[in-house]
Amino acid sequence: MTTSSLPRTVSGIQATSDSLHLGNFIGALQQFVAHQESHDAFYFIANMHAITVEQDPTDLRERTLRTAAQFIAAGLDPEKSTIFVQSQVPAHPQLSWVLECTTSMGEASRMTQFKDKSAKQEHVSLGLLTYPALMAADILLYNPQMVPVGEDQRQHLELTRNLAERFNYRFGETFVVPEAQILKATAKIYDLQNPGAKMSKSLPSPQGRIDLLDDAKSLTKKIKSAVTDDGKEIAYDPQAKPGVSNLLTIYSSLTSRPVDDIVADYEGKMYGHLKVDLAEIAVESLAPVRERTEELLQDRAQLQAILDAGAAKANEIAEVTLRDVYDKVGFV
Ligand code: TRP
Repeated sequence: MTTSSLPRTVSGIQATSDSLHLGNFIGALQQFVAHQESHDAFYFIANMHAITVEQDPTDLRERTLRTAAQFIAAGLDPEKSTIFVQSQVPAHPQLSWVLECTTSMGEASRMTQFKDKSAKQEHVSLGLLTYPALMAADILLYNPQMVPVGEDQRQHLELTRNLAERFNYRFGETFVVPEAQILKATAKIYDLQNPGAKMSKSLPSPQGRIDLLDDAKSLTKKIKSAVTDDGKEIAYDPQAKPGVSNLLTIYSSLTSRPVDDIVADYEGKMYGHLKVDLAEIAVESLAPVRERTEELLQDRAQLQAILDAGAAKANEIAEVTLRDVYDKVGFV
């Protein structure tokens, strides 16, 4: 078995869209890429979480592979990070069952994501309720010190910590209690058409959302037609100028330059100048990711082989934890 002396990290992204958006890229993927240097990193595509709401099987299969391709195209290196698909590691649902049996109905039904999602569905699946136990299993199997997630997953991480502590107390030291590392930028990238709302795959109009796989033409169009604010001064002021501030945040994230420097560059210039430049920067930084994704998707067998190898590594580690848990709860 491969052992690493580096601290461990685990995170997952759901396979529910053809393209990840800029918020995923800046908020999550870029951090995943940074962490793979300093951590023994496990990143997976949460296809089992995806079916907690209805999914078309053809779409799900395609989106799983597309998400994997985007992970790699954005810089995750299968030699450094373990990249895998959740359903290829059976210990996830196996541990989830044990954790479900230590989670109360009250705890599960208090989760705000469950309340929001179930309010929007006509048919509420049991899986939507047990979703956080599966997420806790995803994490606890690998005993990570740190789990990078968006702000919307904070409560699920709290529950994961509680379940780990509860299990350890009842059955003896088993799990590392992981720290959440809340990804600040995910919360900070807003819809281009409606800068009051987070950039998200569930927003009705794709015009406000920058997809990682957008071509140069639509990227440019979306940025140029972004909603800006009254006045004409380019300043960072999320309250008074949410549209321009959002563009500045994106600019800063893609160039790794401080917002203040960018604002100084645009003194006396107009919104249009900023948009033209940002469109160019976005095309330049995202085009290679798009091209690499397309290349990877042309050789599905090779992509699947990378995922199989990732699953084999994940299985090795997950199996050890699961065996320990099964033993502790008294499974013969
Ligand atoms: N629920 C997470 C989301 O929608 C995805 C996810 C599933 C996850 N399992 C995880 C994230 C384990 C971190 C760790 O964003």
